[in-house]
Amino acid sequence: MSSTFPPITLPYVQNGKIRFLLSVPDFLERRLHDFDEAIKIRRNGKPLPVGKKPVHGSIILQSNDYLNVTMHPDITAAQISKLETADKELVMSAVFLHEGSDKELFETEMAKFTGFESAILCQSGWSANIGLMQAIANENTPVYIDFLTHMSLWEGIKSAGAVFYAFMHNDVRHLEKLVQQHGKGIILLDSLYSTLGDIAPLVEIIDIANRYDCVSVVDESHSLGTHGPHGSGLIASLGLTDRVHFITGSLAKAFAGRAGIILCSKRFSQYFPFTAYSAIFSSTLLPHEIAGLSATLKVIKEGDDRRKKLHENAAFLRNGLKKMGYAIVSQSQIIALEPGTESQTEVLRDALEERNVFGSVFCAPATPKNRTLMRLSVHSGIEKSDLQYVLDVCEAIRDEVDMWSWKSTKKRNSNPI
Ligand SMILES: Cc1ncc(COP(=O)(O)O)c(C=O)c1O
Repeated sequence: MSSTFPPITLPYVQNGKIRFLLSVPDFLERRLHDFDEAIKIRRNGKPLPVGKKPVHGSIILQSNDYLNVTMHPDITAAQISKLETADKELVMSAVFLHEGSDKELFETEMAKFTGFESAILCQSGWSANIGLMQAIANENTPVYIDFLTHMSLWEGIKSAGAVFYAFMHNDVRHLEKLVQQHGKGIILLDSLYSTLGDIAPLVEIIDIANRYDCVSVVDESHSLGTHGPHGSGLIASLGLTDRVHFITGSLAKAFAGRAGIILCSKRFSQYFPFTAYSAIFSSTLLPHEIAGLSATLKVIKEGDDRRKKLHENAAFLRNGLKKMGYAIVSQSQIIALEPGTESQTEVLRDALEERNVFGSVFCAPATPKNRTLMRLSVHSGIEKSDLQYVLDVCEAIRDEVDMWSWKSTKKRNSNPI
């Protein structure tokens, strides 16, 4: 029997050896080609989120470490100590863990911290959301989702094969209408939105969920640690804990680790590890990672001063930007400048970076193509003088970046906030 091999094309040199690139079929070639072409039109020949590299002394407003806890000595000490003293780091799926594991102890601490009966530690916020949706929804479950909810929940809907009905961002009436039309199901939202930094109308949405017998899932990735009593989140601060079925969160934001969490009932926490594919078919966290998270939780609980500074810093930047005409919808530490198009955002990125200020570009697929934006994330460790410098820069570049003709600016001016 003869076999046909794909043609081998271009030669290249690696480690002093000549090797050959394997060509790819046209369906993949087209996708790679489109990516190459999209990058070619960028001023620096790189993907839009990648601008200049910050240097020592740059003002970096990109990190999700809102409480400035990375490298906290108690956290690094806890990780090192676990690495040095643990008998062995177990490298396996959590389905094989027994009662009393480090994972279970941390979960108990997180449940107590947030006021939930139970918690499930996941490998990331992404896997928490995908796993949760796969474990609670199927093709017969209507899922109601705010348009701006994080991509991981949208992907969770796909992996569950559920039918979704998207409601306009923060539009309670639209949500209620959809629920009346399609019946009880699951309502998905973020408490604090990761692109614009605005906060969901949580009381009203949870009320709808309860009145129509829906399951509620609130992603608190950007409010866990930063909001509520001792950082226990927005749902806790509004007294809604007993009325929400699930809170999910990334622990790669204020917790500055690499993990995710689901807060839920005890019954659910016993069901999930043996049901969600992301829990069964992906290895659990390592003990030294859990030791770091446990130490971080203590720092967060004791972090009222850090939270106060964070919220003061965020208000200072938000108010300053609003005063000079930027359309800011943020109510939090996430502050978006919204040029709209990719090319306008590229101009803004370069204008800021030339002056040593670094934010994060959010473009497709994180935003619709015509809603590209620059996100500035504030943290508690930044000094007012640095924020004043950022404001001075933003004031100086308004004409250069054509701020007055951004769609967001025009909208704000026709409908002043
Ligand atoms: C709202 C929200 N949910 C979930 C995630 C995913 O978290 P992780 O980075 O831990 O996978 C993120 C991170 O971007 C997020 O912003």
